[in-house]
Amino acid sequence: MSKKTAKPPAKKSPAKKPPKKPPAKTQAKSAAKKKPKQPARKPGPTLAESADKFALYQRSVQSPTVDIEFFDAEFQKHRSRVPLSVREDFCGTALFSAEWCKSDPRRTALGVDLDGPTLDWGRANTLAAAPPDAAERVTLAQTDVRDTSLPAVDLIVAMNFSYCIFKTREELREYFAAACKNLVDDGVFALEVYGGTEAVVALSDERELRGGLTYVWEQEKFNPINHHTLCHITWKFRDGSQLYRAFTYDWRLWTLPELGELLQEAGFSAVKFYFERVEADDEDDEYMTGTGEFVEHTEIENQEAWLGYVVALK
Ligand SMILES: C[S@@+](CC[C@H](N)C(=O)[O-])C[C@H]1O[C@@H](n2cnc3c(N)ncnc32)[C@H](O)[C@@H]1O
Repeated sequence: MSKKTAKPPAKKSPAKKPPKKPPAKTQAKSAAKKKPKQPARKPGPTLAESADKFALYQRSVQSPTVDIEFFDAEFQKHRSRVPLSVREDFCGTALFSAEWCKSDPRRTALGVDLDGPTLDWGRANTLAAAPPDAAERVTLAQTDVRDTSLPAVDLIVAMNFSYCIFKTREELREYFAAACKNLVDDGVFALEVYGGTEAVVALSDERELRGGLTYVWEQEKFNPINHHTLCHITWKFRDGSQLYRAFTYDWRLWTLPELGELLQEAGFSAVKFYFERVEADDEDDEYMTGTGEFVEHTEIENQEAWLGYVVALK
């Protein structure tokens, strides 16, 4: 199963190279094609007006079962035991926490987020939809991820690059040190990372989802001096309506060496980098497809777009 992330479609299968140029036939056809008539607008709310941005977010960018499979295997490889307690930092609507508790009846999850209404949505939707025995093993805490008073856990995860909200080395190191402190002695911390030559340019990328829905990842700005980037998520609907910039991210795009160095400075004993294994899906190697299997690397090709995990061992 491939992984969804809060990024453009190219990053969903990071090593998939786009065709050098669109096939000529398609170009000619689309140029000649008449603009389709807009369907007459039905009375009542538009699809965008009746959409729920949190439900769309979960559907478009989160794949917790894929993440859990990876974390489970890596934790067991390094620690020779099954991880049971997780802390989901920047948990938002707590989808990862719910899936974690569904994956094993011994598992517990602590979701941490600053935003009360987002956590409320998670309680009323994500947890309400989970089997009660799993939902009752999820605790949600409205606090800062740098809070050092939280209980110690086996595994802390920060998915979908939310740590990029911290824009200085001091802030990020403080967060990493708090995570290190709140792990058990053989605990593991995992971050999701993205990058590549396309991550440092302004762009807008669309991915078609089922039901005539389009997910749009927009990188509005990137400043090469400080790596600050301003990104947005928009959804477009088949009736022509849209949820324009439903989510905005004002981030610093951290580089892998910066992350590795700060994790070590914060007290982690080892830092590992994982990227998706790819294979050629045509004879001349022009197209590479991600296999969904994440493997530790010390060197990767400088791709247009890559996705990975950084795993730090306490
Ligand atoms: C993009 S959402 C992450 C959703 C989900 N975890 C995921 O994997 O996609 C980012 C969340 O981080 C929260 N957040 C931002 N700064 C935070 C902080 N310092 N401590 C805790 N939560 C924070 C926001 O309230 C928001 O819900």
